[in-house]
Amino acid sequence: MDKPYQAMQDVTVLSAHFPVPAAGLLPVNAFIIKAKEPVLVDTGMGIDSEAFIKTLKSVIDPGDLKWVWLTHDDADHTGNLKQVLAQAPNARLVGCSLAILRMSTVWPIPLDRVYWLNPGESISAGDRKLTAVRPPLFDNPTTIGLYDDKSEAFFSADCFGAIIPSPAQSTDDISEADLAQGMSGWASLDNPWVHMVKSSEFSLTLDRIRQIGPKRIFSAHLPPAEGKTEEFLKLLATIPPSTPSIAPNQKALEQILAQMSDED
Ligand SMILES: [Fe+2]
Ligand SMILES: [Fe+2]
Repeated sequence: MDKPYQAMQDVTVLSAHFPVPAAGLLPVNAFIIKAKEPVLVDTGMGIDSEAFIKTLKSVIDPGDLKWVWLTHDDADHTGNLKQVLAQAPNARLVGCSLAILRMSTVWPIPLDRVYWLNPGESISAGDRKLTAVRPPLFDNPTTIGLYDDKSEAFFSADCFGAIIPSPAQSTDDISEADLAQGMSGWASLDNPWVHMVKSSEFSLTLDRIRQIGPKRIFSAHLPPAEGKTEEFLKLLATIPPSTPSIAPNQKALEQILAQMSDED
């Protein structure tokens, strides 16, 4: 885990950078929204375990959390969920019903602590409305991003992610070329279905985000971005007809392993 940092007054990032061999680093962010009813968005990677809880506690007393918002049930978002719920007895778990039920095949999630939400539905966090918004790209059918009308931020789950060359706390610290390349590659690799979608239809989902007009994008897999929404939407518009990214195969793995043994 990295040191937590503020993305804006009400939002703190609990950040990690997961090394992707021969490619770079994938940011893995959870967020704390210091709303009147405080919210934790996602719960990090299981590999971080105690470090995640320690980092969380350095920002907020988990007993003060009122909501844990799960963007989807992929392992890099649910890694510390069980521990978080144990430490945060006053928090309700917000998520898509399908995510909660799928996770209930692994461990018994108390359904009376759960709040099922579909895209378009909202909860109140006391001083702001939090609305579930399906991001244009998603790698999991349970995905609900979160639009916070007070911070005017869109917590976009995996959408707008990028593998980046070095750790960063703002997209302003990443070169334009690295950002464009990282975001395009991730968009294609993480969402192979997008290449089956007509550009004209995909652009309708981009327009939905345009209409909301978030000032800030807080992706789980990108450093915080301010004032870049239109730039990012334009970049995503280029993905459907682009050449699909291909995941590394065994030959690539052997090269990676050989390189690692050379470095030892
Ligand atoms: Fe995911
Ligand atoms: Fe993810």
